[in-house]
Amino acid sequence: MWYSGIHHMPMARTRSVVLLVLFTVFLSFSCNGVFGNSGLHNNNKLAKKTIQTKYGDTYDCMNYTNDLPVFPPSQLKGSRDPQKSSSLFNPSNFWLNGKGCPDGLVPIRRTTKDDLKRAKLATEIHASKYNPLTIDKHGTHYAIVGTTDANTKYHGGSAIISVYHPSVVGTQYSSGRIKTANSACFNTLCNSIKPVRSDMPLDMVLEPVSTIDHKYDWKFMLFWDVANGNWRLKVSKDETDIGFWPKNIFTSLGDGANYVEWGGEVFSPPNVPSPPMGSGSSMLEMTNYDAYCRLIKIINETDYEVNAVGTKAFSDVNQYQVKDEGDTHEADFQHLVLFGGPGGYTGL
Ligand SMILES: *[C@@H]1O[C@H](CO)[C@@H](O)[C@H](O)[C@H]1NC(C)=O
Ligand SMILES: *[C@@H]1O[C@H](CO)[C@@H](O)[C@H](O)[C@H]1NC(C)=O
Repeated sequence: MWYSGIHHMPMARTRSVVLLVLFTVFLSFSCNGVFGNSGLHNNNKLAKKTIQTKYGDTYDCMNYTNDLPVFPPSQLKGSRDPQKSSSLFNPSNFWLNGKGCPDGLVPIRRTTKDDLKRAKLATEIHASKYNPLTIDKHGTHYAIVGTTDANTKYHGGSAIISVYHPSVVGTQYSSGRIKTANSACFNTLCNSIKPVRSDMPLDMVLEPVSTIDHKYDWKFMLFWDVANGNWRLKVSKDETDIGFWPKNIFTSLGDGANYVEWGGEVFSPPNVPSPPMGSGSSMLEMTNYDAYCRLIKIINETDYEVNAVGTKAFSDVNQYQVKDEGDTHEADFQHLVLFGGPGGYTGL
């Protein structure tokens, strides 16, 4: 069970638009169609309405009403961080119609050939067994911080992740991400997140992006909902539920995760120099220059979102670096992770 947060990938029409940053969940091919709601199929048949973003991307409004669980308000306990200064999604800045789909319908982006290729690769890569401490996936590189105590149960993890726009081509991607692991599920179905919002698609553009002078970042949270067994994805300063992985895709009974991870991941096909990660800097000195995950937290077994402790940093090649700053004792940063690098790796 994993989720890649902020993704940077070329899109069809938006390729020429500067400062485009996407966040998307890997969209997977669906073997049986049951969970084929990721947009990687022809939407036209089911689409009730078609809308456009101000970036020129087309979304079909689909009816998934029957699939949607009732989301109780967040059951997270304890005082909630104000998430000071992180970004809030505003549909009026995103959709040409200022609103998104009509109530009860969810926006699914029309896909391009590169989307399909990328999704196929991503699915293959993530279908293989993942061990963060070995180089086991050709073309994929990491600079991450992860938890180390496999005997601890986690009900999720969260962080506020900076948004940059490293340049990528073709099927490459470069992402900032948060991941939880050990909820066994069928390979391709693991990627089958279901959208729940009429105004926030799963692959919305995150704008603006960070510069040396101005930092923009987004809160992301993966939360295992003990009440119904779903994994919920929350995004934005107000922790909006934008999608979920239904309980029934997991093979185990499900009792959360035993591993949480934050940082960056890139992918490049063989013999193509790997793309930059984060801001492209690997100085790892300060948040002015480097990509970061701040306020990295885990959700503990009694549903409190608390500072992540006992973490370890790892990167698989020198072109990408990561630094676990630990608890900075600064309210806005708390447990801070810096990561990134120029890329340019051409091996496997
Ligand atoms: C979606 O489908 C359900 C069941 O078929 C139907 O009851 C509902 O009215 C539909 N919603 C919209 C907005 O079309
Ligand atoms: C979760 O965190 C809260 C707040 O720190 C604490 O009171 C509680 O004991 C923790 N639960 C577990 C299972 O560690």
